[in-house]
Amino acid sequence: MTEQVPISLVVNGRRVQREVEPRRLLVDFLREDLGLVGTHIGCEHGVCGTCTVLRNGESIRSCITLAVQVDGQELLTVEGLAQDGKLHPIQEAFWEKQGLQCGYCTPGMLLRAKEILEESPRPTREQVREGIASQLCRCTGYQFIIDAIMDAAERMHEQGPDLVAAAQLAASQEQGPDLVAAAKLAAPQQES
Ligand code: FES
Ligand code: FES
Repeated sequence: MTEQVPISLVVNGRRVQREVEPRRLLVDFLREDLGLVGTHIGCEHGVCGTCTVLRNGESIRSCITLAVQVDGQELLTVEGLAQDGKLHPIQEAFWEKQGLQCGYCTPGMLLRAKEILEESPRPTREQVREGIASQLCRCTGYQFIIDAIMDAAERMHEQGPDLVAAAQLAASQEQGPDLVAAAKLAAPQQES
């Protein structure tokens, strides 16, 4: 029988404990073991970015990461962006600015956009263009994607504390699911 290794991590704010083969890819773990099929598989070589997820807030390629490498850490997949049935501002902006066509690259785009906007809450168009270059899109020509990320920056600035980030922060600190308290926790980290 193949050796199984226990792992424990937080995925989209929820604690997950499983046993996996040491060679199990993270993208397969997410899609097949957890049913989170929003994380797409493209090149399988770490090039296209469609399998991007956030690990402790930083983007990683889940097709070249092993599930055992995220033991004890915190992941955000595209399924964790919307909260209480309400789209994340980045999702709203992609929707309204038509930042997608086939949508295959979109989960990775959204998560990379989130990382870009957390690093630079008021980015220049050039910064967004450079930042999103890590994600390949075959359909859009990128103009509408960049428009959407610029628009998302405005929305997030107007909305204040990022409840997704706050909830993740709270989960990692073993706090309850109180998003209001979590937002207060996150508030000092926001740029004005
Ligand atoms: S499928 Fe992972 S980078 Fe392309
Ligand atoms: S929208 Fe089709 S690959 Fe990007």
